[in-house]
Amino acid sequence: MSWPGIISHYREFLPIADQTPVVTLNEGNTPLIFSCRLSGILGLDVYLKYEGLNPTGSFKDRGMTLAITKAKEAGMQTVMCASTGNTSASAAAYAARCGMECIVIIPEGNIALGKLAQAMIHGAKVIEIKGNFDVALGLVKEITAKYPVALVNSINPFRIEGQKTAAFEVCDSLGNAPEFHAIPVGNAGNITAYWKGYKEYKKTGRSKQTPVMLGFQAAKAAPIVKGKIIKDPQTIATAIKIGNPASWKMAQAARDESGGLIEAVTDQEILAAYKFLAAEGIFAEPASAASVAGLLKLHKNGYFKQQKGRVVCTLTGHGLKDPNIAIQNIGKPATVKAELKSILKTIGY
Ligand code: F0G
Repeated sequence: MSWPGIISHYREFLPIADQTPVVTLNEGNTPLIFSCRLSGILGLDVYLKYEGLNPTGSFKDRGMTLAITKAKEAGMQTVMCASTGNTSASAAAYAARCGMECIVIIPEGNIALGKLAQAMIHGAKVIEIKGNFDVALGLVKEITAKYPVALVNSINPFRIEGQKTAAFEVCDSLGNAPEFHAIPVGNAGNITAYWKGYKEYKKTGRSKQTPVMLGFQAAKAAPIVKGKIIKDPQTIATAIKIGNPASWKMAQAARDESGGLIEAVTDQEILAAYKFLAAEGIFAEPASAASVAGLLKLHKNGYFKQQKGRVVCTLTGHGLKDPNIAIQNIGKPATVKAELKSILKTIGY
């Protein structure tokens, strides 16, 4: 049977009626990939929830299918979001899918090329501002409060509802929730969504436990770790370059209720994890690698000593979203003459 998308598959857990016009690109059902290298290092079974394989290449599609579906159901014709890139790509695609207009506000010069290309090609009205994501979100909130435009950032509760299905899939794959769940934190919607999903699955008896939630922010964009708003956040992981997360309190609740933590990882650690994943055949964008960087850091500090069980780590977006970062950090291919001799010499034969 072909996969129908998260709304049809998890309908009973979502606010959907028979007449709701479901807008889907068959998102979800992403693979949970066993990581030999990480498991070897941590001494626990580590699985990667590879959300880069969603239709627009990030986890945002799970929330967007529902947010756009509900906007359509409410008779809205225009949707709007602020974004560090992935939300705009997803909103643009789902709006295009059902013939809605999409407006996105992005921080100028801080969007990975692939994400910008996606928003543009799907026909969104893309507006760059000389300001960061937090400023963009403030403006979007103001506009959507006054005009007939649906806000599709993760402060829209339907986004969280859709995104919680990733936790359901993890439990369905493993037969239970894992002992630990690692995840990057930006605007903090996704950690909120996973925690909600895990709690609901336990409550309905589909899983026996909930995991310890391990969230990771970039060191110079770590408001939750520092306990204060960061006015000018900085990180190469532009997707999580956020200084005042909308779901701040909910992320803290996920951390505290689960007995977990939210910690910071440096750009250097993020880049190392990014390359580490690629060396195992998995290409995730830098923000995604923050969760792997976090796991490696916790391991170094002895956090997993004496621990047993399974760790799931969400890789939130595909590496192809941000080709510049890869090229900048790895270098260019060798260029040689179009002849056998030069090629063999370069190979080392
Ligand atoms: N990873 C990626 C690849 C993201 O795009 C984001 C957020 C996150 C992690 C953090 O998730 O915000 O739920 O804590 N991107 C948003 C955007 C902000 O506009 O695309 P979060």
